[in-house]
Formats: sequence, structure tokens, C-alpha cells
Amino acid sequence: MYQFSLHRQLRQLMDFHTIDIHRESDELFYARALSNIATIHDLFVSLYGDHRKKDEYFQQLLHVIILAHANRRQGLRQKDWVKLQNEAAWFTSNELAGMSLYVDRFCGGLKNLPEKFPYLQNLGVNLLHLMPLFQSPEKESDGGYAVSDFRKVDGKFGTLDDLVMVQQKMETKKMYLMLDIVFNHTSHLHEWAAKAKAGNKTYQDFFYMFDDRTIPDQFEQSMPEIFPEAAPGNFTWVPECNKWVMTVFHNYQWDLNYSNPAVFVAMLDTVFFYANLGVDVLRIDAPAFIWKQIGTTCQNLPQAHTILQLLRQCVQVATPGMALLGEAIVAPRQIMQYFGDGLARGKECDFAYNATQMALQWDMLATGETNVMLAAQEVLQQKPLNTSWITYTRSHDDIGLGYEDAMISAAGFNAYEHRKFLQRYYSGEWEGSPAKGALFSVNAKTGDARLSGTLASLCGLERGLEEGNDESIEQAIQKILLMQANSFFIGGVPMIFYGDEVGYLNDYTYQEDAAKAYDNRWMHRPIIDWEKNSRSEVAGTIEYQIYQGVKKLLGIRKSLPVVADQNNLEWLHLDSKHLAAFVRSGAEKKPLYCLFNFSGSQSNLDLATIKVNGKSLIDHWTGITIEISAGGTLKFDGYQFYLLEEL
Ligand code: GLC
Repeated sequence: MYQFSLHRQLRQLMDFHTIDIHRESDELFYARALSNIATIHDLFVSLYGDHRKKDEYFQQLLHVIILAHANRRQGLRQKDWVKLQNEAAWFTSNELAGMSLYVDRFCGGLKNLPEKFPYLQNLGVNLLHLMPLFQSPEKESDGGYAVSDFRKVDGKFGTLDDLVMVQQKMETKKMYLMLDIVFNHTSHLHEWAAKAKAGNKTYQDFFYMFDDRTIPDQFEQSMPEIFPEAAPGNFTWVPECNKWVMTVFHNYQWDLNYSNPAVFVAMLDTVFFYANLGVDVLRIDAPAFIWKQIGTTCQNLPQAHTILQLLRQCVQVATPGMALLGEAIVAPRQIMQYFGDGLARGKECDFAYNATQMALQWDMLATGETNVMLAAQEVLQQKPLNTSWITYTRSHDDIGLGYEDAMISAAGFNAYEHRKFLQRYYSGEWEGSPAKGALFSVNAKTGDARLSGTLASLCGLERGLEEGNDESIEQAIQKILLMQANSFFIGGVPMIFYGDEVGYLNDYTYQEDAAKAYDNRWMHRPIIDWEKNSRSEVAGTIEYQIYQGVKKLLGIRKSLPVVADQNNLEWLHLDSKHLAAFVRSGAEKKPLYCLFNFSGSQSNLDLATIKVNGKSLIDHWTGITIEISAGGTLKFDGYQFYLLEEL
């Protein structure tokens, strides 16, 4: 609702910063600010209404927003404007495809990255998620997710100028940039933590610090452990100041206290710092954890959503071309809430990871059955229009089997036994399993465990090569392509994990490095050997088969606007429990039937059951035309898939 006092406050601050509302891009900013300021205020008050300095912090927040706009270079303002033009959100386009990579492990450093652009563009990738680049202590880094300076690029990657150079080169090549903001915690060596250790009360209030175990014990009664093996418990003793500090992840990652508005304002300023570097998608790390309350799991709390909604509103005003990705790897119903609920529906994160579908693809691949996956779809299909998924098969993290027990039971399995089977299958313990992976973060108390391993090793390539078994190798390649195809066409922006495009196997050398040995996720974070990658162009090699397959899939995806994420997916419920089948359709677009055999055995599909209108279908994957005659059947070999368009 319009509030004159807020309007006046905004105008006064804009005048103070000499923002001239008669200049075009300033006028647009003013329009956005005026239409959002009441909501921003409401959200702020709902979090900090009781804080004694709330007015002061609200004023600071407005300063931060206005300065973010003032510091936004003209080129980025123009890019914002272009992105806002269409009714469909820019990031729902079928022309976007991403890769997530560690700059040092991929090419040594930022300076070398542009020379790899042709390789990436040739594959069809035009969005790069550069894994955390900001300063992080070498031996306590959690892969860069323990940040000691949010604005200084870590020396091992290069400098801030190098990052700016990379972004500018990407822009000229029409590539998009995704970076992380490690929002939930800082390194214990961050300046704020150092001041807290030195006894500075203002900065101790940036974290959750306690004199004794009374409150930590109360918290821990209901808080699960994230890394039960490597970092049990949720609090760490800080001898420098004789206090306990909350450390949900590793003991060197101190949780920020967002009940303090000073923390929110400081982190909002950091968000804008990244936005003005030209970030197109900001990955908000671990947003499920940003609000803590005794008596709860301290995950997915309503205030965490309010913080994200507030963040989104501020970004919409000052840097509207930057999309927000909430990295909430939680249960399906909880993930959905990161798109916003009720009145805030569609007004929280633009993107979420489709972690449920990712894990369910692995579920299907192990069981050869689609029932559990199908049981989850009712929930996943509630995604608001103009929000989107990041779809993926692997990332730098483990695979969590966090979908709901009810989904497993709905498919007729015992949830506990089912998860145990998957753990054993992918860790290679299950007799006859071709997979080679490892259990990650085994919780001895609950029996929970997640999974590590590369796409190729989990699909059986490592074992196939060890055994010199050509048939197993072929099958592994087929599985890799099946998994990628499924995730590329299901709706959302595909995010390939670097190395998977040429079939990297697990790398066990992390065990020799004390800074990594406690974390087996390093087995699937390869150091790229460019000689191996160059075999992507040598016909007959494994690298060639995988790379060219992935490239072809991305090419098909880019050529078919019906694959743009307009919530236009319908599941086909078939008689066969081995086939996952959906149709993507849209006004004036020919439907695309995507059919995947997740089992190793042959399967048949009676074409009449998918009610195709035309006389024939073209399979974009093989180029074969299929005539639809009465009683026609589509034959699937093990792990075969089709991408069929009506002719
Ligand atoms: C996210 C990251 C993960 C990291 C954790 C703590 O889940 O993806 O790699 O360990 O946050 O920052």
C-alpha cells in the first residue's frame, strides 16, 4: 500500500545521492523503488520490528539499495532492461545451458578461462557457474564455502580485475555468469569473526555466541547434524573469547545471525557488490539455514523465507536483471516453498535446484523403476510460472536421498530398506552393481547417508574400464546420456558438472591431502587434464562419445522453443514401470514426447497409449522417422531414450 512517509524518505535519500529521476534509467529505478518500498518495509518490519534501532537500519537498507543502483554501470542497466522486456522470464529460455566448474581445477586460474570459452560454447554451454572465488583459508575452505573476505578474489584464482575481465569477455560472447554468495556463514578468519574473537560485542552479535553450553544444549536437542562424521555437533568452542559459537557446517564456518538487522544490511550490500560485477544468477548458498530458533531443526523456518523475499524485493529494485537461485537441498515440499508461498508465491527465489528430481533419476537408474519418481511429481509440478529449476545429474556436492518417505511407500517400497538399497547400490556394495561411489556423511545414529562419486563412475564406467568389459562400457555411456537427456528436457536450466561432459572417473587422490581427506566429495571434483578433454574431438574415444552426445542433446534443446520452461510438462502414465515419459507442449508449438527406459532390459510401448495426433514422429536423438500405424509399438533397448516430435 502507498505510504507517503516512505515515499518522502525515498525521495530524500535519492536527492542525497543525487539520483535524478528525470534521467531515463534513474526514472525506471524510481518507479521500481516506489512500487516496492511498502513491501520492503513490511518484510523488514516483520523481521526486525522489535529491534530498538529498526528505523536506523531501515534507513541504511535504503541507502544500500540506492547506492547499488547508483553504482550500476550503464551497460548492466541496459542488460537489466532487455531481460525485463518479455513476459516470460529471461532465464526460462530453452537457449540457456550451464556448467558448474572450479576455475583452478578446470584451467588453473581466471586468466586462462577465456581461452576455454570455445570448448564450452562448442558444447552448447552459455552460463557458467564459477564455484566460490572469494578469499577462503586454504586448509579450512570447504571448497571455497568458508569465505574470509567477500570482496577479495582468492589469490589462487587471480584477482578481482581478472574476474571483471572474465565477466566482460563473457558478455561479449553472450554468456551468462553465475556466482555464489555464501550467505549463511563466514570463515572463522573473516574480519567480523576476528573482531568477535577479540571481544568486540558488536561483531559477536553478528554470530550466535554464548558464554556456556546452556543455550547451545537447548538448540542441539532439535538440530540435526549436517556433517556428522567430519564436524559433529552444531557449536564450537572459541578459546580466544571463551565462548561457544554456532557452526552448523564445519567448525570453521560460523553461522551469521540474521536476527540482527546489521547482518542483513551488510550481506545485502555484498549481494549488490556481486550484482554490479555483472552476475546474472546469484546462487544463495544454504538458504534453508539462515534463521535459527530453539526447539526447531533450524532449517526452512518462516523467517528464512521472509529474508529471501526481502532480498528479492531489494534486488528487483536496484539490480533487476540478476536472478536469485536458492540452494535449498531439502525435502520436496520444503524446496517448493523457496519459490514463495501464499501472497508471496513466485516472489522469493527465481530458481531452485531440482534436487528431488536429480536424486530420483538416480533412484530410477538403480531400481529400473519409475514409481517413486512419479509419486513426487504432484509436488514438483506446483512450481509457479516464471520461476525455474536448475536441473542436473551431478554437482560438486553429494547426492542426498531426501525425498519423502511417503513417496517411497506410495510406490510400494519400505522407505528404510529402499534407501539402504540405494546406498549399497551406489557405493558398489550391492552384488552386481556396476556403480563405484562412496557413502558420504554417514550418520551412525539415524542410518542416513548420502552419496559421492562422478556421473561416469556411478553409471558404471569406472568398473567397466577396470574389467575391460566393452559391453559394460557401452552401457555406462548409454546411461550417462540417458541421465543427461532426462535432466536437459524436464524443464529448467541444465547445469552440467564440469568433467561429466567427457566422463571423468572418481579421483581418489584427495585422500592424500589432509585439507581434503575428511571430505569424500573431493572424489568427484576432478582436475581437468586437457589432453583427455581434447579426445572429445577424436572419433571412437569414450570422451568423444559422451561429449558429442551431450553436445547433440543441448543442440536439440536449443532448437526447440517448446522446451522453454513454461510449466508445460505433462507426465504420461504408462503401463510399463520402466519407462519415464513426459510431453512438453505449448501454444503453436509441436509437442515433444520425451521417453526414457530406465531399465537395462528391453521394453515396448504401444504408441496408441501416448495419443499422438500426427501420422509420424521424428526422433531428434537418432534422426529416425517413426510411422504411426494402428497398433504400432516403439521398441526400447536397455537405457534407450527417444525425443519425439510430431511431423
Ligand atoms: C552448500 C554447498 C556445500 C557446502 C555447504 C556449506 O550446501 O553446496 O558444498 O559444503 O553449502 O557452505
